[in-house]
Amino acid sequence: KQDDDQLIIDAGQKQFGATACSSCGMVYSADNPEDNFQHTQFHQRFLDSIKFVGWKKERVVAEFWDGKILLVMPDDPKYATKKAEDVRRVADNELGFQQVTLSRPTQAKTYLFINTEQLVVGCLVAESIRQAFRVLEQPDQQKDMTKDDFMERHRAWCCSTVPEAAVCGISRIWVFSLARRQGIATRMLDTVRSTFTYGSHLTKEEIAFSDPTPDGKLFATKYSNT
Ligand code: ACO
Ligand code: ZN
Repeated sequence: KQDDDQLIIDAGQKQFGATACSSCGMVYSADNPEDNFQHTQFHQRFLDSIKFVGWKKERVVAEFWDGKILLVMPDDPKYATKKAEDVRRVADNELGFQQVTLSRPTQAKTYLFINTEQLVVGCLVAESIRQAFRVLEQPDQQKDMTKDDFMERHRAWCCSTVPEAAVCGISRIWVFSLARRQGIATRMLDTVRSTFTYGSHLTKEEIAFSDPTPDGKLFATKYSNT
């Protein structure tokens, strides 16, 4: 289980002889027996977690040519909350979160992006918040860090001590590795802004990202400025 986490985290630094599985996206060396085993262990479990079979009742909040976004509320039928939880676990695993706890699970809204192949390729968990602390810009000194510093980089962001009003906190945002840079995270956030608070459209300033990863910060910076 630990090794799965590690292999996912390494996905950015493609090593010599390593390939990415074209279905699950895991990067591994096919000629390394242990790697092969890890991949076999991971592959089916992952695909089962993101497989979407269609629900009796679906709360479709956005539709696109390449997929749709469903909103899952805490009181929804078990088949919906179970799938939301499965996908959230996949995301947490990749983010290296050990404890799967939401600050207020009874209020969290989960947005799932379903692609045309019936896979959940995006997951966003949004919660009501009252205030947030802005992440301060850092001088660009983490360029030559190795992957061993990954966890350190996670924590390295500096936050302001001045609270600012916010309405919606994004506690998780995750897009399947093989579906990134297609605007899926952007479209999920746009959808959160128009559907999170009934009858009102949230501004970008009213959205706060909790504890962003390096990927998360690059995305959030881009999103906030456009
Ligand atoms: N590096 C540089 N810029 C990026 C990156 C990146 N890795 N990801 C997004 N951006 C910027 C780009 O400018 C991009 O536009 P472009 O593709 O036209 O250049 C813009 O953000 C919009 O990106 P999207 O395509 O909407 O983002 P995507 O669907 O790829 O999802 C995400 C981004 C969610 C961060 C994805 O990379 C991911 O799941 N990463 C792993 C999990 C993770 O770190 N999640 C964030 C945790 S923080 C949190 O949960 C609060
Ligand atoms: Zn695979």
